[in-house]
Amino acid sequence: MISDSTRARFDKEVAKYPADQKQSAVMACLSIVQQEQGYISQQSEAAIAAYLGMPEIAVHEVTTFYNMYNQQPTGRYKLNVCTNLPCQLRDGQKALHHLEHKLGIRMGETTADGLFTLQQSECLGACADSPVMLVNDRTMCSFMSNEKLDQLVDGLRATQSGAKEGA
Ligand code: FES
Repeated sequence: MISDSTRARFDKEVAKYPADQKQSAVMACLSIVQQEQGYISQQSEAAIAAYLGMPEIAVHEVTTFYNMYNQQPTGRYKLNVCTNLPCQLRDGQKALHHLEHKLGIRMGETTADGLFTLQQSECLGACADSPVMLVNDRTMCSFMSNEKLDQLVDGLRATQSGAKEGA
């Protein structure tokens, strides 16, 4: 289930902790699986649990607690809009609705072309910059007016079709 190269990456993370606390590497191992496979399946959780010597349910609890872990495959671009209260008060929900309308999907869904998945997120720690969103768990976007949301989506679409033409 775990390839040799994945196991080598796990080993590197486990080495950062005392030998009797290797379970501390669970988040890093989950991140590695997500990087390699795009999401964390039940089989992957089981493999990580076996590797770290911890109950499968304990791994599942971590996967489901943090919303940056994908429990299902996502589109090429995962868009997470913060809708926690401070952002709600400053157009966070409006930004989410605008994206739903622009992409033609509801929150939690993926576009038919597999390009975009739209999700809510918990506080991203940038409430003063609302509306804020995260692209692919890495790129923070602030002050996302409807115009900026349109630019973002159109830009990502153009990048993708450019990549296809270049292939
Ligand atoms: S509530 Fe949205 S960034 Fe804090």
